[in-house]
Amino acid sequence: MSVDDPKRAVGETAADLVQSGMIVGLGTGTTAVWLVRALATRHLDIRCVPTSQATAVLARELGLALTDLDDVREIDLTIDGADEIGPDLALIKGGGAALLREKLVWEASRRCVCIADASKVVQTLGAFPLPIEVVAFGHTTTLRRITGGLADCGILTAPRLRQKDGAVVITDSGNLIYDASCGAILDPVSVEAALKSITGVVEHGLFLGLTKEALIGTRLGVERLGPRDFKDLSNG
Ligand code: 5RP
Repeated sequence: MSVDDPKRAVGETAADLVQSGMIVGLGTGTTAVWLVRALATRHLDIRCVPTSQATAVLARELGLALTDLDDVREIDLTIDGADEIGPDLALIKGGGAALLREKLVWEASRRCVCIADASKVVQTLGAFPLPIEVVAFGHTTTLRRITGGLADCGILTAPRLRQKDGAVVITDSGNLIYDASCGAILDPVSVEAALKSITGVVEHGLFLGLTKEALIGTRLGVERLGPRDFKDLSNG
């Protein structure tokens, strides 16, 4: 079994949820790529709202019809990956730097389905560094406030400015990302409130209460998870 097989399986299973006539939010990342590929083979009459430039480029190449978030009243179904899936389907997202658009699309959706392989399922959020998107202006000042806000939540960390291939990462919306290695986020609601209160923080990667469904690719097939039936799937 290749490492891509569980991602491909959840992408294809999730594509089965999409029906003609729907407005569909398309996630970002390596798992969402399988969803986009599967959808493109089905020739459905759908319009898609991509959560990143990367997803838009792929979807367009594969012939999916795209629309803008501002041109739709509501999105019927959004399907997207995650970096960590904790109890109650609380998520960390943003490993692919698309957290801001992802959250805008998720919050505009009637139904959101998270797709991931089993390695993403955790007992406690926080081993994956929490992405925090900030405006570039004054970002080191904002960083000090982020560090203080997290310390007030009992999290001592020195968030790192995200870089890739030696260059600072700029998001699709022109912002920067700091990744905060939190270790364990025992009270995600407090962390969310602390980060949201800081001017200069545009968004963070905690997705709390935004989905009731996850499809998890395991060695044995695709498992469905609801908020109440958390299972330890970390061994795949
Ligand atoms: C992008 C995201 C992705 O959904 C997350 O990083 C998961 O990606 P992958 O499917 O490649 O593991 O939040 O901002």
